[in-house]
Amino acid sequence: MYKIFFQLVFRRMDPERAHHLAVRWIRCAARVPVLRTFVAAALAPRFEELRTEAFGLRMHGPFGLAAGFDKNAVAVDGMAMLGFDHVEIGTVTGEPQPGNPPKRLFRLVPDRALINRMGFNNEGSASVAARLAARRAVFRTTVGVNIGKTKVVPESEATADYVRSTERLARHADYLVVNVSSPNTPGLRGLQAVDQLRPLLTAVREAADRTVTGRRVPLLVKIAPDLADEDIDAVADLAVELGLDGIIATNTTVARDTLGLASDPALTAETGGLSGAPLKARSLEVLRRLYARVGDRVTLVGVGGVEDAEDAWQRVLAGATLVQGYSAFIYRGPFWSRAIHQGLAARLALSPYATLAEAVGADTRKVTA
Ligand SMILES: Cc1cc2nc3c(=O)[nH]c(=O)nc-3n(C[C@H](O)[C@H](O)[C@H](O)COP(=O)(O)O)c2cc1C
Repeated sequence: MYKIFFQLVFRRMDPERAHHLAVRWIRCAARVPVLRTFVAAALAPRFEELRTEAFGLRMHGPFGLAAGFDKNAVAVDGMAMLGFDHVEIGTVTGEPQPGNPPKRLFRLVPDRALINRMGFNNEGSASVAARLAARRAVFRTTVGVNIGKTKVVPESEATADYVRSTERLARHADYLVVNVSSPNTPGLRGLQAVDQLRPLLTAVREAADRTVTGRRVPLLVKIAPDLADEDIDAVADLAVELGLDGIIATNTTVARDTLGLASDPALTAETGGLSGAPLKARSLEVLRRLYARVGDRVTLVGVGGVEDAEDAWQRVLAGATLVQGYSAFIYRGPFWSRAIHQGLAARLALSPYATLAEAVGADTRKVTA
């Protein structure tokens, strides 16, 4: 049914307009008590066997909404109502910024993909922190806060910008993500080099510890799929060295070689980050490489091209404790998360593993044994 709706309504609309409309509907539904209870009962059934613990946080399941969908934390309860076990808001930058000029989001429907060059359009850390502080949660969900660099801040002052965001946002975050992998902020991905990343992550860790008392906010880093293998290994080693809680793999790619021939060449030539189905193989490969390197010492989050329960299950077997998605939500609609949970529960029941945690990394361990 959603497929027909997508073809008739969303596909005819500008993608960014369709996004804002969908978010408005989700927010509205989550505000009406009877409606939200009904929707959550239909779309977010709970599966005991999928209960997950990641970096000390207990969640209903492993499947969450990736960063970028709810940049300003306006729809956290709405997304929880739709069945996401965690919601990663952001990317939030130190200062508010408009992002790149439109058009900046493109649908590659035959490829089940998106290209975006949004450029971290967001209301800024002070405003998002105020919204999170005022939030009265109606659904229990885990809220991750993803932070990035303000575009106008020079690269030499990047750390101070991340620290400012951390000081404002860490207390409202169940976990914090340092995003150094968006292709749409000039110079950002250079921060993935370990000599840049080490002082940045150390400063963010210290800022989180300074501003949040009574608990330790888990800290993760989100990396690009375009890193060379040796750079992935270097980030993995750094994560272990610093006692980082997690690595999110991956962000969007600047590569285009996995696209088919069916999408409009004018669209595939757009600059920006490619997400969705064409990213699947590389994201999985990066995840496997990370797990082979860090094992259980660092929690891994698998994202990039996850479309169905089988994809999510493959991420778990490759080493992901948590799995996220964004692009397939656009194509599959509100029943997507439910289908993933049902399929994951079925796969776990048929597998030799008693719990989801036991399945994490099982395939990668076999290959590297
Ligand atoms: C329109 C759009 C905006 C995004 N914005 C962000 C962002 O602000 N921060 C971030 O870390 N990732 C962002 N992402 C990347 C996603 O979080 C995710 O890593 C990527 O899309 C791969 O997952 P997918 O194939 O399931 O979409 C964005 C993705 C899309 C499609």
